[in-house]
Amino acid sequence: MSVACIVVAAGRGERLGEERPKAFVEVGGRPLVWHALQAAARSARVSYVVVVAPGGFEGDPALSGADAVVPGGATRQHSVANGLAALPPETGVVLIHDAARCLAPPSLFDDVAAEVLAGYDAVIPGLAVVDTLKVVDGAGRVTATPDRSQLRAVQTPQGFARAVIDRAHAAAVERGDTDAPDDASLVERLGLPVHVVAGHADAFKVTRPQDLLLASTVLARRAA
Ligand code: C5P
Repeated sequence: MSVACIVVAAGRGERLGEERPKAFVEVGGRPLVWHALQAAARSARVSYVVVVAPGGFEGDPALSGADAVVPGGATRQHSVANGLAALPPETGVVLIHDAARCLAPPSLFDDVAAEVLAGYDAVIPGLAVVDTLKVVDGAGRVTATPDRSQLRAVQTPQGFARAVIDRAHAAAVERGDTDAPDDASLVERLGLPVHVVAGHADAFKVTRPQDLLLASTVLARRAA
């Protein structure tokens, strides 16, 4: 069955404090999206990669390795929907990946795709949570402390049977949802199970300036 990957790169990334869209900020001399695209393309399972790009960046040379480039939407959910609409008809498995998780290794794409090919409809990588998390109300008062052993910090690529992710996005549009926190949450809303596999420390999301320092260090370690 054919596996495609959608790399969403159309966010502004304001928390990074750069003028360029986050996916085009450079680490190790290349834009974040270039690294993400390389990892997806180097996965043994992935045969087609669509990049969802911010306006004006569709022709950027960093995207030349993509099989297709489509414009982004107002929210991440819209950007993913644009990517889904651009998949070749023979696609049976879809991996959806944030360009901001630019150093997720090809092996993580392989692992997630393998679990979908083995029969799971929705597969997401997750790591144990290191911080104690609190639920806080609008007045800043703690209302609960969830059991940390039951929590996972989830990453991308998230993998899906194509029919399931298409249905999950269509149902979100019908409900009027526009900004889902992730793609798996839309499958959860269908009442279908989502399977968690081991995530990878290098699949962290570049969000704040210090994340760029960490990404540079990881790249330097890989090159050593
Ligand atoms: O903002 P955040 O880091 O959570 O975004 C996650 C991913 O979704 C990023 O790779 C970003 O480029 C992408 N995104 C998008 N279109 C949007 C918003 C975010 O492709 N409208």
